[in-house]
Amino acid sequence: MKKVVFTLLVALLPVLASAAKGPEWLDRINTDQADTRSLQRGAQVYFNNCMGCHGLEYARYNRVAKDLEIPEDIFQEYLMSTDQRIGDLMTIAMSRQDGTRFFGVAPPDLTLIARVRGTDWLYTYLRGFYADETRPYGVNNVVYPDVGMPHAMVDAQGLCAEPPKPVAGVRIDPLTGDRISEGGCERYLTEGQLSKVEFDQSMFDLVNFLEYMGEPIKLERQRLGWFVMAFLTVFLAFSWLLYRELWKDVK
Ligand code: HEC
Repeated sequence: MKKVVFTLLVALLPVLASAAKGPEWLDRINTDQADTRSLQRGAQVYFNNCMGCHGLEYARYNRVAKDLEIPEDIFQEYLMSTDQRIGDLMTIAMSRQDGTRFFGVAPPDLTLIARVRGTDWLYTYLRGFYADETRPYGVNNVVYPDVGMPHAMVDAQGLCAEPPKPVAGVRIDPLTGDRISEGGCERYLTEGQLSKVEFDQSMFDLVNFLEYMGEPIKLERQRLGWFVMAFLTVFLAFSWLLYRELWKDVK
C-alpha cells in the first residue's frame, strides 16, 4: 500500500512543479469565434506585426481568407507579402538557425499556440510587457519572465514603466463618456497610439484570431454537435417506442 501511495506521489510531482511555475494571475477573456469582424481585425494585427518572426506554417492563406470571409484579392494585397501565393502554407522567410542567432531562441510557430498556452495566458502576455533595462531588448514580461521577444506592439501600446497589474474592471468616465480601464499598465515611459481600452480590444481580437488558428473547425464542430444531439433525441424516442412494442407481449 505504502508503495502505491509513494508511486502516485512521484507521478504527481511534475504536475505540482509546473503548477508552481505558472504566473500568479491572468486577465480573463471570453473569446468569440462567431465574431468574424473581430477575427478579421485580429488577422490584420497578426499579419502586420507578428508574421515577420512567427509563422503559422500548419495552415494556408486561402483557408484563412475563406473562413474569415475576406475576399482573396484583398487578402493578397493587404495581408500577404508579394512572393507568396494564396494557396501557400503560412511560412516565414527566417530560418530557425537565423532566429536562434538573432534572438537566442528561435521565435516559435504560433499555429497551435492558443492550444498550448490558453487564451487568458496569451491575452495577459501580449499586454504584459514593461521596461526593464537589464534585458537585451529593454523589456520584460509579467507572465514570461526574461522573455527573449522584443515588445512588438510598443508603437500601439506605448512602453509601460512598471509591471502591469491585473485588470480591475472598466468604468465609464462621467464627464467624457470614455471607457476607462482600471489596472493594467498605470504609468507609461512612451505613449502609444492606442488608449488602454483600444489596445486591450486589439489584443482581444489578436488572441481570438490565434484561437481560431489553433482550431479552425471549432464553430463547425459546435454546429454539428447540435445536429448530433437532435438526432440522438429523435432516435431515443423511436427506440423507446420500439422497446414498448417488443415488450408488450412479454410483460
Ligand atoms: C522581432 C521578432 C518577433 C516579433 C515581431 C514577434 N515575436 Fe513573438 N517571440 C519572438 C521570440 C524570439 C520569442 C521566443 C522568446 C522566448 O522563448 O524567450 C517569441 C515568443 C512569443 C510567444 C511565446 C511562445 C511560447 O514559448 O509560449 C508568443 C505567444 C509570441 N511570441 C507571440 C507574438 C505575437 C502575437 C506577435 C505579434 C504581436 C509577436 N510574437 C511578434 C520574436 C518575435
